Amino acid sequence: MKLVKLGSAEEQVSEMCLGTMMFGRRCDKKESDRILSFALDNGINFVDTAAMYGEGETEKILGRIMKNRRKKFFLTTKVHKGIDGKSILASIDESLKRLQTDYVDLYLIHWPRERMNPEEIMETLNEVTEKGKTRFIGCSNYPAWLFAYSNCLAKLRRWKTFINHQVCYNLIERGIEVEVLPQAIAENIAITTYRSLAIGLLTGKYKPEQPIPNDSRGYNDWRISTWLERYKIGILKFFQFAKDHGLTPAQLAISWVRKSSAVTCPIIGVSSLNQLEESIKAFDFNLSDQEYKEVTDMFDTGVKEESGGDYKNLRRHLSLLK
Ligand SMILES: NC(=O)c1ccc[n+]([C@@H]2O[C@H](COP(=O)([O-])OP(=O)(O)OC[C@H]3O[C@@H](n4cnc5c(N)ncnc54)[C@H](OP(=O)(O)O)[C@@H]3O)[C@@H](O)[C@H]2O)c1
Repeated sequence: MKLVKLGSAEEQVSEMCLGTMMFGRRCDKKESDRILSFALDNGINFVDTAAMYGEGETEKILGRIMKNRRKKFFLTTKVHKGIDGKSILASIDESLKRLQTDYVDLYLIHWPRERMNPEEIMETLNEVTEKGKTRFIGCSNYPAWLFAYSNCLAKLRRWKTFINHQVCYNLIERGIEVEVLPQAIAENIAITTYRSLAIGLLTGKYKPEQPIPNDSRGYNDWRISTWLERYKIGILKFFQFAKDHGLTPAQLAISWVRKSSAVTCPIIGVSSLNQLEESIKAFDFNLSDQEYKEVTDMFDTGVKEESGGDYKNLRRHLSLLK
């Protein structure tokens, strides 16, 4: 597994970041432990989690299984509840307790909120860093202007700045190609991407005009059935391309995300060790420029804003700040 530089930070991490959102949800503690051990044995030290996953249960499981090897990992978690100063200070302490550690390596604001106060947020994150509770800071799901504005405020006051932006990116959800990715190149921001597999749609598990398996995440997720219908032709071409190139669809989907020069580390979410064993192989495969273009063009190249949470509305919000 290749090591990559994390944007402007003097820090190297594994190119693959392990997403743990399914720990305690679709995989129990024992399987989570096997996944984490396999990741470490295969050179993956970058781990992503969040306080809200499983309402704290995911952090608790990670805390238990990481305990004696915490320092081997570059651990990221995210703020839960509010993003005012008081809530951030409470949230980091609760996360550290659940994770059974004194510090995380990277602490992120999970989502922007209406009427948020970027100055208060950056000042508080600076305080969290100065207290040694995190080494670096970043955010997730920010519009590009808000990322730049927050860092500008922090620079003026000589506070710590965001080094990482965690965003949703896959062949179908491409909204960040406008503004966010060009900004990341210009400002040397580490981009970590979640949902590389479009919640599993790009793994071959779901097929157009076939019932959605009732043991999958897509069974209760409206996006899978909507995308299957809307992108039917592209999805079938994509599966065929993977087959013709000796790859599984999941490996092709990850190879496509990591090919972008703006992407630092794709976050790979798994719910079993088998899935990780399959997906990790994508990091040994490089699409040629021609293959990349071919796969990109299988889906409508117009930028899509569809994304989880409230991203679409937040980008248009005229009173996001206080
Ligand atoms: N910052 C944010 O707002 C945010 C939001 C979401 C996620 N994240 C982070 O990003 C990570 C990944 O996100 P995600 O899990 O939503 O998206 P994803 O990577 O697109 O989808 C992961 C799902 O795909 C299926 N899968 C994975 N590998 C597979 C394989 N090799 N073969 C077949 N199926 C496979 C599994 O579904 P089944 O369980 O159905 O088998 C798995 O749960 C999370 O763990 C989390 O760390 C961040």
